[in-house]
Amino acid sequence: MILILGATGMFGSRVLRETAARGASVRALVHSDDHAAPLRASGIDAVVGDLDDRASLAPAFAGVDTVFVVTPMDGRILERETNALDAAVAAGVRRIVKLYGAVRHLPDEPLDQQHKASIAAIAASGLRYALVSPNSVMETSFLSQAPAVQQANRLFGCAGDGRVGVVAADDVARAIAVVLTDRDEQGENYVLTGPSAITMSDEAAALTRLLGRPIAYQDMPDTDFRAFMVNEVGIPDDRVDEAVMVHFAAWKRGDADIVTDTVEQLTGTAAMSIDEWLAANRSVFSG
Ligand SMILES: NC(=O)c1ccc[n+]([C@@H]2O[C@H](COP(=O)([O-])OP(=O)(O)OC[C@H]3O[C@@H](n4cnc5c(N)ncnc54)[C@H](OP(=O)(O)O)[C@@H]3O)[C@@H](O)[C@H]2O)c1
Repeated sequence: MILILGATGMFGSRVLRETAARGASVRALVHSDDHAAPLRASGIDAVVGDLDDRASLAPAFAGVDTVFVVTPMDGRILERETNALDAAVAAGVRRIVKLYGAVRHLPDEPLDQQHKASIAAIAASGLRYALVSPNSVMETSFLSQAPAVQQANRLFGCAGDGRVGVVAADDVARAIAVVLTDRDEQGENYVLTGPSAITMSDEAAALTRLLGRPIAYQDMPDTDFRAFMVNEVGIPDDRVDEAVMVHFAAWKRGDADIVTDTVEQLTGTAAMSIDEWLAANRSVFSG
């Protein structure tokens, strides 16, 4: 039995679907009864548990062999993942597969510090484990800018000419499903990226090709882009630094210029290019 955390979220929902499609026995940890109902209706074993409440977790972890660990990108990653690890150890789970990330962050960056502390705890637990580390995901990097593309023929950012090996969330999930079901290397870090590293100007050029009208990349000072993400895109002021700004800063430094063929090695199918992903999401950008 493979337990999928975050099973209604961006990664977890896709990993649940792909892992079930491989014929594995899967269970979803869901935050609420509301979210359990649709999964149960489609035949998924969904068990309610709150990662903020250790006492609630035992039923979801009972009888589980492997846990896919993902928690929201906020200040509680370490606390929630520690609760999940403790529940896994108590239930006799054999293996953890933890979502990390490929982008290199500065040593004092709080989000990355939490991830590293969680990884250290998993490594010290004595359980078998592996890391799955996507580069920045196309969905989180570009979908929020669709209104600016539609209304102003612009993409905004503060990444300069920084390159990033952006990857589609579906490709990440296909690869993670293989790691969960078919691989068991101890301590391996599977770095999952798209097929090339692109700049924001490359992304604008790909949108120009897709839509048949000029889309320009407007590079902004950090403070202006931060204000744009808060005021125009609607990212909460207390979340925008960890959710957006640290990632654009890493892109600008060249710390996301990372490309691997691990998706293809694991799944047998190459990761989607930016043109393929945009074509699949054309309606979002064309309006
Ligand atoms: N976006 C990227 O480009 C990228 C790249 C690499 C790594 N990452 C990492 O990806 C992770 C975020 O993954 P994501 O985007 O899939 O997150 P997400 O879409 O925000 O999903 C989070 C999931 O966790 C569930 N959840 C929240 N609080 C919970 C609780 N207390 N108990 C049980 N479940 C709870 C949510 O359920 P409800 O909906 O019911 O609340 C949801 O299913 C972060 O660790 C981030 O660092 C992101």
